Amino acid sequence: MLDVRVALDLAARSLSPGRFRHTLGVAALAEELASKHGIDPLKAKYAALVHDLAKEIPTVQQVKLARRWNLLVYPEDEANPAVLHGPLAAYWLAHCVGVKDEDLLAAVAHHTLGVPQMSQLEMLIYSADLVEPNRNFPRVDNLRKALYHSLEEGTLACVEHTLQYLEDSNRPVHPLTHLAHEDLRRRQG
Ligand SMILES: [Fe+2]
Ligand SMILES: [Fe+2]
Repeated sequence: MLDVRVALDLAARSLSPGRFRHTLGVAALAEELASKHGIDPLKAKYAALVHDLAKEIPTVQQVKLARRWNLLVYPEDEANPAVLHGPLAAYWLAHCVGVKDEDLLAAVAHHTLGVPQMSQLEMLIYSADLVEPNRNFPRVDNLRKALYHSLEEGTLACVEHTLQYLEDSNRPVHPLTHLAHEDLRRRQG
């Protein structure tokens, strides 16, 4: 049984005030979108509260843990360790907190990069992370509206926003994000 008070306590103890605020924003939006789209709102809230638990572990330590726990899959993972905090948090929740819900763990693991064949909950956490109420960038409102209208279409719009952002800032795209994008496009015909 998932206890959101445990998740809230973990987040409050692990995160800086700014990231805790972001986390509460993700949780509020995830819960609301979950209710709208027939997803378990408690599970969505729990996943949102724990999604960034590993984010503030020093990068060198994140790489060490990822190596020890066998979480380095792509060369890009080590080249850009900012992508590791999702899989690290999911592993830690499974092995140290006793979270057994595979869908919830996958949503935490994949919230930064996406993944092909995303479940409803995976799309929800990926997208809520990007457009939670504290986020403020041009056309963020359009992405929020798209997510209320359709989780699938909204998530595709979020992935495309991220791809554009990476291109504009000359940053590499992780293979998983390319695969997630192709998959979402295919699913929407
Ligand atoms: Fe994150
Ligand atoms: Fe986040």
